[in-house]
Amino acid sequence: MIALCGIIGYIGNQKASEILVKGLKHLEYRGYDSVGVAIANEQGIDIRKDKGMIDDVSINLGFVSMNGHIGLGHNRWATHGAPCKENAHPHFDCTKKIVLVHNGVIENYLRLKEELAAKGHRFVSDTDSEVIAHLMEEQSKTDKPFYAFIKSLKKLKGSYALAVMFADDKEHIYIARKGSPLIIGVGKGEMFCASDIPAMLNYTKTFIPLEDGDVATISKNGYKISDIEGKAVERKSITVDWDLEMAEKGGYPHFMLKEINDQRHFINETIATDVSAAKELVDKCDKIDIVACGTSYHAGLLLSYLLMRKGRNARAYIASDYQFIANPDENTLVIAITQSGETADVLQALKFAKEKKTKIVGITNIVASSITRIADALVYLNAGLEIGVAATKTFMAQLAVAYMLVYPKEKLENVRSIIAGMLEKENEIKEIAAKLKDAHDAFFIGRGISVPIAYEGSLKFKEISYIHSEAYPGGELKHGTLSLIVKGIPLIAIAPDDETAPKLMGNIKETKARGAIVISITDNPEIKKESDYVIELPKIDKDLYPFAEIVPLQLLAYHVSVLRGNNPDKPRNLAKSVTVE
Ligand code: AGP
Repeated sequence: MIALCGIIGYIGNQKASEILVKGLKHLEYRGYDSVGVAIANEQGIDIRKDKGMIDDVSINLGFVSMNGHIGLGHNRWATHGAPCKENAHPHFDCTKKIVLVHNGVIENYLRLKEELAAKGHRFVSDTDSEVIAHLMEEQSKTDKPFYAFIKSLKKLKGSYALAVMFADDKEHIYIARKGSPLIIGVGKGEMFCASDIPAMLNYTKTFIPLEDGDVATISKNGYKISDIEGKAVERKSITVDWDLEMAEKGGYPHFMLKEINDQRHFINETIATDVSAAKELVDKCDKIDIVACGTSYHAGLLLSYLLMRKGRNARAYIASDYQFIANPDENTLVIAITQSGETADVLQALKFAKEKKTKIVGITNIVASSITRIADALVYLNAGLEIGVAATKTFMAQLAVAYMLVYPKEKLENVRSIIAGMLEKENEIKEIAAKLKDAHDAFFIGRGISVPIAYEGSLKFKEISYIHSEAYPGGELKHGTLSLIVKGIPLIAIAPDDETAPKLMGNIKETKARGAIVISITDNPEIKKESDYVIELPKIDKDLYPFAEIVPLQLLAYHVSVLRGNNPDKPRNLAKSVTVE
């Protein structure tokens, strides 16, 4: 199940609604099926919310006409209950004096709901989140807001990032984190909280990421952080040097296209990242397990291939299955790759690994994300913020880090110009995209280190074009899939002129004979002749082909998606950071 949502809270002297609306725009990648804001003022608490995206709902409901200096906002990604006005956040209690926004899943909500209903509470939504407002209402009968808050938290099972306001206490917002990210933004005479840093970057560069189990009270002039018992805890603040422009589209029609193009700019920053602590562990450990999901798994698979070719005992696992099939021990190094640093499947795999006393290397793009508190050694991707749901530049950065864990950095010195050269082929790729846009199925093949790239090309293609696609090592086609290859089926062959080329040529011929339209990414003269369309690869160090191969596959997916009228930045049913198993 996917459970995401974006939370933002503000308390200060500015008009809260304007700050919340801007913040929610930056959090849209976390969920965009419904949106709402709550503002407290002398009249009480006003909630406006509905199904839809922030731009439309905000205009229709006049969010920025709401007056007040304290408020909460929320972008929802449906888990419990369909996307609709009632299920959108914020949620009230019965008295409409307590309001909350929540990200996460409350596992015992049904039991709590029954108990509260028996006491006379009336529920207006199907959400698990609403029960928390009623729990606090019940608790507020005997306790002041902070104690009502922590006593209610103690009754919850599951995960949450929570922000709560009380109509009778307009000087404070109460927040808590357990299993879902929540960060305090520290301003001057104003304070923020949000699921992610970009939502607050317009106003401050100083942040305090909460840890699991933290509870905090924020007011105009400060914050207090404690554990769930109310005992004060110290948390370090961090200062970031990102500016908001990095999170804007920079003139491109979509974040995804900007991020694909960004690859030529930031790659040298990734190459400059410090891998020394991680590399030391890689060199020292006998056995290396790599855990990751989706795109990050493909980078992990390539890392495993690179290590295996060097004779190392390495294997890549889909993170969600790791605990069921792996047998790590204290001599195992677990390398977790996750751009967001928040993927629940990865964090769960690491929990299992920790119990087995492995060492852990974390590779992530997000400063202060959950994985940064678990890993023994960290490698930052330095790729800048990635907003498009489809991972592109972070995959490129993950590839670079994978290579740096196996080879000396110098090996990557031409990667930037390799990427730049492939980006110049966008127009011809767009023409090929026009030929593919009406396909129902597509197949991607490669061999050797091009197999993870075929997998990634296929994932990118299907997730944003909604065309069914599969990827295989070329040799596997004849073991079953060939029966699906009929006239007009597109076959995308990742066919560098290396030792895999002669065998892949055989696979291409098998599909051609059955009528497939062959699109090759190749620099092999024979394969070029056999192909219907060619995207030319440069003659480069053979180990580095993956850096060149992935660029046209990203562009192909992007243009097919756009030609089909989709929004590649926000593929249906998907979200940027998947914080529930
Ligand atoms: C692919 O485009 C997706 N964004 C997805 O597969 C992603 O790579 C996966 O959910 C893992 O995310 P992570 O790197 O943040 O852990």
